[in-house]
Amino acid sequence: MNPALQIRDLVLAYGGITAVKGVSLDVPAGKTVCLVGANGAGKTSVMRAISGLVKAKAGSIRYFGDELTGRHPAGMAARGIAHVPEGRETFQRLSVEESLRMGGFRLPRAEFGHRRDAMFETFPRLKERRTQLSGLLSGGEQQMLAMARALISNPKLLLLDEPSMGLAPNIVDEVFQVIADLRQTDTTVLLVEQNALRALELADYAYVMETGSIVIEGEGRQLANDPRITTAYLGGEGDCL
Ligand SMILES: Nc1ncnc2c1ncn2[C@@H]1O[C@H](COP(=O)(O)OP(=O)(O)O)[C@@H](O)[C@H]1O
Ligand SMILES: [Mg+2]
Repeated sequence: MNPALQIRDLVLAYGGITAVKGVSLDVPAGKTVCLVGANGAGKTSVMRAISGLVKAKAGSIRYFGDELTGRHPAGMAARGIAHVPEGRETFQRLSVEESLRMGGFRLPRAEFGHRRDAMFETFPRLKERRTQLSGLLSGGEQQMLAMARALISNPKLLLLDEPSMGLAPNIVDEVFQVIADLRQTDTTVLLVEQNALRALELADYAYVMETGSIVIEGEGRQLANDPRITTAYLGGEGDCL
């Protein structure tokens, strides 16, 4: 069976600067794979290339066997790819409910209601805030909204870029719990996280990026205990790359 995502020798550049220097990685269908590495390593660039927001200079990105490079980002949602970008990018002037409607605009009306209720069950705070403007939500609630907006359409592939960034510890726990629960579903997840140890602990497989290249890969739990990771990447705190 084709993996959900198969990236081979991906090269990405901004002007004359090569940010991603021949990255290859696989995300098997239904699995959770994480990509960790220091700031500037190229993680977001890889995510943006999958969504068609950055043009590949070389290499291929196959999604269930179909080549994605050169495709327009507007077509990604219809293919079942949902991207929760770094910084969340919620629609500040839409209410929670309206934002979910945007995320689920392809769904038939009855199914939308069903999926919205499922999102409210996963994120009870969003239910309490359903009529509030997104711009007035806390950072944690905005992250939950961004995730709910992506999940409402039942994507086949979910790209999560730094979902725990800047959130209070109890909200980080909630966000990680949602990601952990996704492992019980068919959804395939590619997760980029600064909170490397926690990401590694819940990932089936993980890749470590350094200045545009993958330098270490392995099973998530194994890497979480790998001295190369704990000393070089996790420092004493175990949570800051
Ligand atoms: N839009 C851009 N224009 C120019 N350089 C960029 C742009 N986006 C990212 N870069 C550069 O590409 C490299 C990788 O960045 P990024 O993919 O954001 O890394 P990460 O997500 O791992 O922090 C960095 O050196 C960054 O400065
Ligand atoms: Mg980034």
